[in-house]
Amino acid sequence: SILIIDFGSQVTQLIARRVREAGVYSEIVPFQSAEAAFERMRPKGVILSGGPASVLDQSAPLAPMSVFAAGVPVLGICYGEQVMAHQLGGRVEGEHHREFGRAFVEVTRPCALTEGVWEAGSRHQVWMSHGDRVTALPDGFEVVAVSENAPYAMIADEARRFYATQFHMEVVHTPDGAKLLSNFVHKIAGCAGDWTMAHFRTDAIARIRAQVGSGRVICGLSGGVDSSVAAVLIHEAIGDQLTCIFVDHGLMRKGEAKEVVSLFRGHYNIPLVHVDAADTFIDALEGESDPEVKRKTIGRLFIEVFEAEATKLGGADFLAQGTLYPDVIESVSFTGGPSVTIKSHHNVGGLPERMKMKLVEPLRELFKDEVRALGRELGLPDAFVGRHPFPGPGLAIRCPGGVTRDKLKILREADAIYLDEIRKAGLYDAIWQAFSVLLPVQTVGVMGDGRTYEYVLALRAVTSVDGMTADFYHFDMEFLGRAATRIINEVKGVNRVVYDVTSKPPGTIEWE
Ligand code: XMP
Repeated sequence: SILIIDFGSQVTQLIARRVREAGVYSEIVPFQSAEAAFERMRPKGVILSGGPASVLDQSAPLAPMSVFAAGVPVLGICYGEQVMAHQLGGRVEGEHHREFGRAFVEVTRPCALTEGVWEAGSRHQVWMSHGDRVTALPDGFEVVAVSENAPYAMIADEARRFYATQFHMEVVHTPDGAKLLSNFVHKIAGCAGDWTMAHFRTDAIARIRAQVGSGRVICGLSGGVDSSVAAVLIHEAIGDQLTCIFVDHGLMRKGEAKEVVSLFRGHYNIPLVHVDAADTFIDALEGESDPEVKRKTIGRLFIEVFEAEATKLGGADFLAQGTLYPDVIESVSFTGGPSVTIKSHHNVGGLPERMKMKLVEPLRELFKDEVRALGRELGLPDAFVGRHPFPGPGLAIRCPGGVTRDKLKILREADAIYLDEIRKAGLYDAIWQAFSVLLPVQTVGVMGDGRTYEYVLALRAVTSVDGMTADFYHFDMEFLGRAATRIINEVKGVNRVVYDVTSKPPGTIEWE
């Protein structure tokens, strides 16, 4: 395995992803707990991430010296290079101007990190982002590549197997970065590259069995990918010691609730309690238009309904959750301070504390794309595994204002047509999320010889990497026209369609 010591870079997670894509298990730990993690993991190699600090500061975050003394290969990236140079006896200096963005490096000599990727004498595009730079190398190091602004763009001490770059090899803007990282983990650190989802599945099943023993587990299914993959995996491990509870809040998309039930009961034969709680949720939401109150109401009702069902089942020892790695990585924060709540997200959060159950979280180590790969490995249908993210509060937050059964019906039909058109145009996988929003506004229209006075539907589609930022999707107008015409012709209750061209920030992806 590879240990990644995090110094707070925005892109540290990408290092872990690239290493895992090379078939090697990796973990990210904040620099403060690196020493303990190194002892626990006994990794075959260590990567020092980038970060916003300066090693010239008194309180600069550093790597444990024991990492450099252990005889394992170390790769420093950006701030990681400065840490390495500074701690091993070189010199780092501040610069007047920070260097950001695309740069070109020239390879000056061969080394194991560039073997088979870059030849000596060649020039390559990389992504730079740094303030300080190394100005004198520690003993044993040699320059391997230079750029106009970074005479130590890549350095190496091949005897000790220490390598470092001023540029970020984990980002796609360094086109050969993944190959360089693969060299580090395979050729230099000697990792086998056998960490696949098939492997993970076998290991995870053994771990679940060891943790659960003969205990009973309940799992809250949401219909989403994460909880579904977790449930199928756990069922494979412990069979009918698992019961799934599907709290159907009546706010799913068209046909989705049925699909969940038939997939789990029919295809996998997993014990599933389907609680039809649509009336409870919709009645509570009917007169409420404040987005935060709507979200909180849904969260509270979800817990109440789930708890009541769990009690009917006679309780359980464990609660299963589809928690993913990005939710558990302890991030290094230099900014501190309280952050404002933009939206109170609803999922099964809050349940474990209330119900005093131990947690089974078999996906805690995985990124979203790995969960999808595991889902396919477990035989979940491609269309299911590749579905766009869907928020816990469902269609309620896509119906600004009070939610009614009529509005939900209109929204469901219109959204199904929109998604159908997107699939037909072959655009579904290029889009991070696409959905419709039924506005609480009616406008005048004319259909045939008659006047209409009906709702406005907003279409939304965005591209994104992680949902934190997003760009609106640039459909061609033909497509939008086609989708709008179909929706207005086929869905009673909508006579006008608009397209949302707001990116995030300043907008958010969902409207509420
Ligand atoms: P926003 O609207 O904040 O959404 O830009 C970012 C991503 O999060 C999803 N989302 C949620 N997911 N529970 C969830 O599980 C929620 O309450 C929730 N609210 C928003 C949203 O769909 C997008 O993918």
